[in-house]
Amino acid sequence: MDKGSQPIIIIDPRKEQTKGKEALSMNIAAAKAVASIVKSTLGPRGMDKMLVNPLGDITITNDGATILHDMSIEHPAAKMVVEVAKSLESSAGDGTTSAVVFTGTLLEKAENLIDNGVHPTVIVKGYRLAAEQAIEILEDLAVSVGEGEKEMLVKVAKTSITGKASEKYNTLIAKLCVDAVLAIQERGKADLKRVILTKDIGRTIDETEFVEGIVIDKVALEKEFPLKVHNPNIALIDVSMEVAKTANKAKLQIKTAGEIENFVKQEDAALFEMADYVIRAGANAVFCSKGMDDKIAAYLQNRGIYATRRVKSEDMQHLADATGGRSIRNIKELTDKELGHAGLLEQVRDGDQGKTYLRDCKGAKSVSIVIRGETEHVVDNVERAIDDALRVVKCVVEDGKVVAGGGASEIEVALELRSYASSIGGREQMAIKAFADALDEIPRTIARNAGLDAIDSIVNLRAKHAENKNAGLNIQTGTAEDMFEKGVVDPLRVKVDSIKAGSEAAQMVLRIDDILRAQSSSMPDVKPEHMASTYDGMSAPQLNMRR
Ligand SMILES: Nc1ncnc2c1ncn2[C@@H]1O[C@H](COP(=O)(O)OP(=O)(O)OP(=O)(O)O)[C@@H](O)[C@H]1O
Ligand SMILES: [Mg+2]
Repeated sequence: MDKGSQPIIIIDPRKEQTKGKEALSMNIAAAKAVASIVKSTLGPRGMDKMLVNPLGDITITNDGATILHDMSIEHPAAKMVVEVAKSLESSAGDGTTSAVVFTGTLLEKAENLIDNGVHPTVIVKGYRLAAEQAIEILEDLAVSVGEGEKEMLVKVAKTSITGKASEKYNTLIAKLCVDAVLAIQERGKADLKRVILTKDIGRTIDETEFVEGIVIDKVALEKEFPLKVHNPNIALIDVSMEVAKTANKAKLQIKTAGEIENFVKQEDAALFEMADYVIRAGANAVFCSKGMDDKIAAYLQNRGIYATRRVKSEDMQHLADATGGRSIRNIKELTDKELGHAGLLEQVRDGDQGKTYLRDCKGAKSVSIVIRGETEHVVDNVERAIDDALRVVKCVVEDGKVVAGGGASEIEVALELRSYASSIGGREQMAIKAFADALDEIPRTIARNAGLDAIDSIVNLRAKHAENKNAGLNIQTGTAEDMFEKGVVDPLRVKVDSIKAGSEAAQMVLRIDDILRAQSSSMPDVKPEHMASTYDGMSAPQLNMRR
């Protein structure tokens, strides 16, 4: 986001210090404000947000991390809540909205307790105990997923996509993501850098495709070149394959036709010399990241060597990784040692356009997903959904643990925390109960966003939990149902990290009783008219998108 545009939320610039309850109330209000922005997007029936950047580009999404990342949030406590979303995004790749809603609710409940005379440090301790206990409860609740349980992985992927991409293609996308992660995982670890996403706008989502190998948005320069090359030896050239242009001011003194011919011959000789290095190295496919003279392309292709130019640098990197080849900056250094290898090079072309597929690559295992859709917005949205799905599948492949979704795990943890609270006694138990109430806010919000009665839904869920710990919300009917049977499943990591990050952020905010301005000149672009006053002499935290 453009840092030069007008920020809106900030602390009152006229004050050097904000203390005690005032400081806390202000921070809590800011955190709540962040949570309220994303709240309406939670769950399969959550709404979307339209983000408009200063250039007028729009993003339509309900992905919590994307929304908060693209907004300009200046309030320090609000930023701490945004950090919660970021932390979930990087650790689990999903659950960002839930974590932010949870954090906001924890602080809201804390505020009520403070109003009733409970000291913040007591709440901090209660929240810490509750978080530790909640994680233990979650771990006991989790169900193991074995290596071959692909169906469960598809359920997890599908749950994370629900509400994000087109409903019609959820299963297709979920399956592609599971195939991709399973293909690249090695000894229980999945490095998602090995899954390459390519976009192809103008086709339909159902044509989105999973490829074991690499897909490059290029075709051979010569139209007539054969569509397939078996066992290609691949040269990766990271330097221009053209003759250097004569500098502007230098004049060529050519007087006779013979001299012109001579000059052209010299140029051609230089070009063919480059091509000969490629031929001598034994390559039968050349990917050049820079320009390539048509004469070289023709020369190579006449000898059965696939050649293409201006390949994007990230694609060059993928090619190098996947085929085991090395990019060359000096063509004279090219030998067979630098070549990459694959089982099959195949072009799918439409005139001069098209794609080149490299299958059965011999380097590091790499797979691609070609994301297709009618418009750029559709493709971007599917890409975000795929991104979430890949990451949740990775979590489950690595950890082997899942919990029931649809609010099931939150309700169960909340119920067990309430009985744990009674065993603790003292004022901390009030905080532990507040923590349990904050967890209930997840199913409550999913229900509300689906147009259901939140109170009825929670009552149904609690009643059902006496017999089934995996009962979650059926958003069509509002009844409580077994979520494993319904296929609504979340990775354990998402839930554990959400509790860790959310409760830590809440505790951090609660420990602050003083806001000091470190340097009075540190906020030069804030003017008093940007303030709205709620507390005495203090600005209400406002959140606005920069536009
Ligand atoms: N079909 C469904 N029925 C009921 N609940 C569902 C269903 N699909 C998903 N959920 C629940 O919705 C919640 C996830 O919602 P959502 O994906 O909007 O937010 P998030 O995962 O917290 O954040 P984000 O995806 O924005 O990072 C999870 O609790 C999940 O179990
Ligand atoms: Mg999600």
